[in-house]
Amino acid sequence: MKVILAKKAGFCFGVQRAIDMVYDEANEPNKNIYTYGPIIHNEEVVSDLESKGVKAINFDEGELKGLNDCTVVIRSHGVAKNIYDDLERKNVNVVDATCPFVKKIHEIVQKESEDGKTIIIVGSEYHPEVQGIKGWVKGDAFIVDEEADARGLDIDKETPVCIVSQTTYNPQKFAKLVEIIREKGYDSNVVNTICNATNERQTEAKEIAKKVDAMIVIGGKNSSNTQKLYEICKNECENTYYIQTAKDLDFDEVRKYDKIGITAGASTPKNIIEEVHTECQR
Ligand code: F3S
Repeated sequence: MKVILAKKAGFCFGVQRAIDMVYDEANEPNKNIYTYGPIIHNEEVVSDLESKGVKAINFDEGELKGLNDCTVVIRSHGVAKNIYDDLERKNVNVVDATCPFVKKIHEIVQKESEDGKTIIIVGSEYHPEVQGIKGWVKGDAFIVDEEADARGLDIDKETPVCIVSQTTYNPQKFAKLVEIIREKGYDSNVVNTICNATNERQTEAKEIAKKVDAMIVIGGKNSSNTQKLYEICKNECENTYYIQTAKDLDFDEVRKYDKIGITAGASTPKNIIEEVHTECQR
């Protein structure tokens, strides 16, 4: 029996990096560590970190005030500039785990807005990454998520605009929204800041699913990127299983196949993937 484990299964580079940075901090003795919001949407990882004394806090002004003599880790989504300023004023040790691809967007919008451009962010308004990007813009930023938002933009035509995207945005939707904005006649500089991690994970999963007799997709039930991976694999391979952990799978049934593929959604920890991989090979 052959088992193919997707290289891009699970955490993307930016999330893995952020998690490694938190664990590095947690391994230092006597440190008071907070993460600015949960480091990842995975309860197992968050509670493991809690057991090591790392607290995930959604800081509001009040909570920020109470902080001193501690380390705050900024997660891969990044945060607005004023949050850094607040933390700096408090003399808190900041560990910045913002994904470098997100940091790059902060730099772009900061520079372009300082140069007098109006910034348009294509993304979901309440997503923390978008909130963070918005917080690096000098002046106003417009957030566009639906075609109606793009059509309704009312920016002075004399002002050049710079369009960036949330890293996890759908590329087709981004292209469509950019087209609508351009048709309105703005002098626009479009910087496609969509990250390839999701696309690469999906493309690899599809290739593997084509070649195997059974495909296992691991990830949270409510994880939309895992659901998408499942759909892609199911289209290529009828025997596709969607599981959250190794406990959900009847391995005796799966082992009867000659070739098995394994992939996992963006918030699935390595140990869960490895457990499934090992069980398949038993
Ligand atoms: Fe991950 Fe960074 Fe891309 S967090 S999805 S590698 S932008």
